[in-house]
Amino acid sequence: MKTISAGNGTPAGPRASTTTATRRLRARLAAVAVCVSAAALTGAHPITAQEGEEPSVWDGVYSAEQAMRGKKLYEATCSRCHGEDLSGANARPLAGESFIRDWGGLKLDGVLTRAMTMPPGASGALGEAGYVDIIAYVLEVNEFPHGEAELTAERAGDVLVYGADGPDAVPNFAMVQVVGCLARDDRTWIVTDGSEPIRTRDPDASTGDVLALTEAMPLGGNTFELMYVFPDPDPYEGHRVEAKGFLIRREDSADAINVTTVASLDEACRP
Ligand code: HEC
Repeated sequence: MKTISAGNGTPAGPRASTTTATRRLRARLAAVAVCVSAAALTGAHPITAQEGEEPSVWDGVYSAEQAMRGKKLYEATCSRCHGEDLSGANARPLAGESFIRDWGGLKLDGVLTRAMTMPPGASGALGEAGYVDIIAYVLEVNEFPHGEAELTAERAGDVLVYGADGPDAVPNFAMVQVVGCLARDDRTWIVTDGSEPIRTRDPDASTGDVLALTEAMPLGGNTFELMYVFPDPDPYEGHRVEAKGFLIRREDSADAINVTTVASLDEACRP
């Protein structure tokens, strides 16, 4: 059990259940996924190998004073669309469940990159430091503890976002990626021996660095029903595949994926 080191007196930290190696692989995958989608905005973005435990939003990565500065900027520039309380009056909420759904499993610089495109029509208007302060305020409203040091744009690239359910909890309806064996159960396509789902922002088949990391992902014990698979993945039956799409958690049967992509990784699939 990981405990929260600084801040708001929350009794117990989020749970941590997977091995560090798997966590690191996932964090790298998530980081690569963000880089791919953010590449057009930020240019190339090196992926650094991480040593030891990665910092997360639970580690007090911004200061209270910084959040105060961010609050002023937020109220002047963002609140008319995202709401006084960040609940998303005329745009997307920046707090609560929806924040974790959008950004959980990813690095904080993804939020920063997106924020820097705001407000619409005046992207970058506040200067990088101003946006970083707003992110500090967003973290505060989301009840992540503050610490002594200020958040910087550089540091944001290391900080993993996840909610109180822990780093491995993928929210319902999030876009995910799994690897496993493609099989048919009567008329339904399923993935057996599937990995844990991880977050992705890219709906298409993995390429490049992401593909290399995907190929290295260990299979697991999960089964996923594939919904709305098109085109028919018949040629890949029995293959090791990656499947991407929206995760639909179900109580009474296997979780499902509303599919955006099924791609073959290998003709054989050995769990
Ligand atoms: C004129 C209205 C408007 C203003 C002002 C505005 N935004 Fe936005 N913002 C939007 C819209 C619209 C979206 C896209 C919503 C969607 O993707 O569904 C968005 C999306 C975002 C996102 C991505 C949310 C997510 O979870 O995908 C972030 C972060 C964000 N805005 C931050 C800011 C910040 C910070 C400011 C102030 C500097 C700001 N916005 C000002 C309208 C606005």
